[in-house]
Amino acid sequence: MKKSFSKKTVLLPLPVYIIGTYDEEGKANAMNLAWGVQCGYHEVSFSIAKEHKTTKNILLKKAFTISLATKSLKDISDYFGIVSGNREDKIEKSGVHIVKSENVDAPVIEEYPLTLECKVIDVQEELGDYRIVAEIVNTLIDESVLDEKGQLDVDKLKLITFDSVTNSYRILGEVVGQAFKDGAKIKTGK
Ligand SMILES: Cc1cc2nc3c(=O)[nH]c(=O)nc-3n(C[C@H](O)[C@H](O)[C@H](O)COP(=O)(O)O)c2cc1C
Repeated sequence: MKKSFSKKTVLLPLPVYIIGTYDEEGKANAMNLAWGVQCGYHEVSFSIAKEHKTTKNILLKKAFTISLATKSLKDISDYFGIVSGNREDKIEKSGVHIVKSENVDAPVIEEYPLTLECKVIDVQEELGDYRIVAEIVNTLIDESVLDEKGQLDVDKLKLITFDSVTNSYRILGEVVGQAFKDGAKIKTGK
């Protein structure tokens, strides 16, 4: 027996994206974002409120970075989501280090092991927020999270996800199956 919960939205897992941007003076900022998703091989889309410093920066520079939050960077990542760059210098206060992306006009936060460099391709105004669509032009991965073959080892990343039901961060869990494969036994009946 299922119960109805009106429009209560439970679309888990949600990501913990750290959006890095520059303002008009070239000052770096970072914010925490959960309402985003990959929407094509090299595209990302997300919803962002108008009042954020990040929003202003994205509209100005048409570029940003996305760093994936990890367990060891949980507190800093949360801080990026509870204070606005309109009020304080989050980069200075958190102590993270910035280098400029070689591919887009946006900062790369050195401490995060995986960063996507993105160029805005579309901005839509919807329900009072902005919907941003961007192309991922390059991905930077720290050597510390590569395996012996030089490929990304997702286990080494220790990614966190956002649980909007309990407002908590959860670690991405164990491998339980193989995509494009495990369903084959049902397809073939064997
Ligand atoms: C877990 C978490 C998820 C968030 N997701 C979003 C989001 O998807 N979209 C959004 O506009 N704000 C989101 N926020 C709020 C912004 O991160 C927050 O308002 C931040 O202070 C904005 O920073 P800025 O003004 O420096 O850009 C989230 C905050 C947290 C803690």
